[in-house]
Amino acid sequence: MSNMEANSNNSIQISKKRKMSGDTSTLHLDGIPLDTLSEVEKYLEPFRLSLEKLKEVSVRLKKDLIRGLGKHSHHRAAVKMLPTFVRATPDGTEKGDYLALDLGGTNFRVLYVRVVEEQQKVVKMDSKICSIPQEMMLGTGEQLFDHIAQCLGEFLESQDLKGQTLPLGFTFSFPCEQKEIDKSILIRWTKGFSCSGVEGQDVVKLLKEAIHRRGDYDIGSVAMVNDTVGTMMSCGYRDQSCEIGMIIGTGTNACYMEEIKNVKRVEGEDGRMCINTEWGGFGDDGSLKDILTEFDEVVDQTSINPGVHTFEKMISGMYLGEIVRLLLVKMAEDKLLFKGETSEALLTPGQFETKYISEIEEPDSGLENAQKILTALGLNWDPVDACVVRLVCDTISSRSARLCAAALATISNRIRVNRGLDHLKTTVGVDGTVYRKHPNSDKLSRKRSYVSAIQKHREV
Ligand code: GLC
Repeated sequence: MSNMEANSNNSIQISKKRKMSGDTSTLHLDGIPLDTLSEVEKYLEPFRLSLEKLKEVSVRLKKDLIRGLGKHSHHRAAVKMLPTFVRATPDGTEKGDYLALDLGGTNFRVLYVRVVEEQQKVVKMDSKICSIPQEMMLGTGEQLFDHIAQCLGEFLESQDLKGQTLPLGFTFSFPCEQKEIDKSILIRWTKGFSCSGVEGQDVVKLLKEAIHRRGDYDIGSVAMVNDTVGTMMSCGYRDQSCEIGMIIGTGTNACYMEEIKNVKRVEGEDGRMCINTEWGGFGDDGSLKDILTEFDEVVDQTSINPGVHTFEKMISGMYLGEIVRLLLVKMAEDKLLFKGETSEALLTPGQFETKYISEIEEPDSGLENAQKILTALGLNWDPVDACVVRLVCDTISSRSARLCAAALATISNRIRVNRGLDHLKTTVGVDGTVYRKHPNSDKLSRKRSYVSAIQKHREV
């Protein structure tokens, strides 16, 4: 309990209310006078999801997973449940030399990976990162794939590999209808991309065509995977009980090993297949309307894909900073922050970056970071403002973590029910910038974080 909670009846009430709402974690309340706090609470309350609500969300997702797996219902399903044709996780005996491409955010990575089984699974790697400029994310598909082919060419040159024809693993982190391991049709762009001429096309073919247009090198067989699948596989390489891959980065998504007999649009009864859930689309049919706030609606309406990836827009790095910014603008306009003044930067979409949230939530340097960030945004802040901003960040990242935890619980429960086992230990491979950069819970484990919220996911 923070000092302020111990010292006043009013804040004890707030704390009780929060306990009833299921959010038992300690928020950053210190340094905020009680009258301000109760005003601030009015703005933040809609973002606090009770345990009961999270359980409801989990039940809704469970129904959507089943709908997405169904032969006749998957066309209309918000959660796409895409078969990946990956039928097993690695067993640790894999070896060889490969190229890997990773496209999914604002950067594009090329890697040369050598898996040397004899040397206790030593995976040697060299890599190069190329940025994808904003204009290219919105340009033509041809420009995008030419850029990728150029980046790969430069990398091969630098590694002296141009004469070889290496097999290539392509992590393409967008929803694709996988026809075969090397044939993958982009269903739709997400996360700020909207290159023309790619939706509905085979992405592997577009990559090969771009490489052939250059004609100065070639690649061998291509295996295409979603980033969730890549995360599950690389985790599974070391831990055989890893059956779930989850990303909380620019976007959010998860995959898991499902029984083939439940994947109604794939033939076969025996064994398992990895399913790319595309849970970012959860809520696109209106099923999350009751938990969306007015700020979520604005984020959606001003995005380049309104109505699409509702769940992702409440959780992932592409959107969290913007939710915080919109809240701060509203609170400043209502004279609750910054002496009622805003700034040009604060009024500009995208100017409150998601990484600021993690910086402001740092256990030791958070308040100092908040002050630096608010100054850089041209705001006329006082110490209470900095504390309120920290509480706002805390609330938004907490909602994100709790929603992920609820969704993860749905999937791990499904795996348990599929196997008929009450206590099945499943390892989850997790990656993504939001997950990696968010300050982890400290020893007291009183501050919420992705790690602690997710570890507690069995509550749901
Ligand atoms: C988006 C993509 C999905 C990807 C996720 C994480 O939700 O649609 O394919 O896995 O972002 O990068």
